[in-house]
Amino acid sequence: MNSLENTPFLLAARRQPVPHTPIWLMRQAGRYMPEYRAIRAKYGMLEVMRTPELAAEVTLQPIEAFDIDAAIIFSDILPPLIGMGLDLEFIGGVGPRIHNPINSAADIEQLRVPTAAENMQPTLDAIKIASDALTPRNIPLIGFCGAPFTLASYAIEGGGSKTYAKTKTLMYNDPAAWDMLMRKLVAVQADYLQAQVTYGASALQVFDSWAGLAMGSLDYERYIQPYNTLLFEQIAAAGVPTINFSTGTAVYLDKVAACGGDVVGVDWRIPIDEAWAKIGHDRAVQGNLDPVALLTEWPQLKERVDDVLGRVNGRLGHIFNLGHGIFPNVPVDTVRRLVDYVHEQTSGE
Ligand code: CP3
Repeated sequence: MNSLENTPFLLAARRQPVPHTPIWLMRQAGRYMPEYRAIRAKYGMLEVMRTPELAAEVTLQPIEAFDIDAAIIFSDILPPLIGMGLDLEFIGGVGPRIHNPINSAADIEQLRVPTAAENMQPTLDAIKIASDALTPRNIPLIGFCGAPFTLASYAIEGGGSKTYAKTKTLMYNDPAAWDMLMRKLVAVQADYLQAQVTYGASALQVFDSWAGLAMGSLDYERYIQPYNTLLFEQIAAAGVPTINFSTGTAVYLDKVAACGGDVVGVDWRIPIDEAWAKIGHDRAVQGNLDPVALLTEWPQLKERVDDVLGRVNGRLGHIFNLGHGIFPNVPVDTVRRLVDYVHEQTSGE
């Protein structure tokens, strides 16, 4: 049995009693931290991710700075696309770009399905270094990947999108091509997630960040749900808790939850108690503070944290987090105050 099983994060993921509500923050290793900016001043984004010692160092930065309950390996959801044949670049101030986006079924046929060892070995090595440093400190490490829809949207649009028009046109016009693309993405991500556990990850999060911003309920059911379900089925054998995260899916959280995941991650667009009722109380829930609250004065932030904790009301299986990633202009002291406050308020429950 993993020695980290009794840490608050892993206990909460399994809906066991906890000494305090665990908290971590999506994008917790990032530009709001001066230590991160110092590394990025010297190395490019892909360079940090592909140098195991640097990626492990960045992973540990928020652990050194805050009394946070879990680490997440420093990488991104998009690098696994590189080994499939897509030409990814992170452009400062712009974001990720794919220079040869998918335009046709023929492009999808050409995509390779590399193993994690072929494709993502530096990240696996970073997981080993980071988890070896974290385990003696009793901090679990979260591995992750992008969900097939969110990855497909970057592969087809070539970058971020407001409408997802190219992605949706392809899936509506050519469902067989869409099916091929989604199955290839599931195969690559399932192998990658399994490998992350082999190298030391204690939990896995699947980011379907853009599903709910793009897809209505019926389209989610038809074009996304079968593939997310397949992914969660394939990683169940890894034996660690899985987190199913999405945004904009409040209207059909029941369908999101039906795909799988021990924990369902919720954004801030729905009160967490309403979300939990839709998800089902037989699952753990992660969330869901509005990331903007970290830019406000303490009384406003405290009110919103109290609201989340009040709605959870001590129910077993809550992991405190933001509803989406932390903004780069959040003050470090605010993060420290948030983490300590959540612990104080929930100690001895
Ligand atoms: O959470 C963590 O601390 C672990 C690292 C992590 C990053 N990206 C680092 C990153 C994780 C888990 C991600 C996931 C990710 N990446 C998602 C899903 C989560 C989400 O936020 O919805 C998505 C959609 C991406 C794609 C992506 N990567 C975008 C759109 C951008 C540009 C926007 C931005 O914030 O600059 C990135 C770059 C990126 N990924 C940065 C970091 C720290 C910024 C790079 C830099 O300039 O230093």
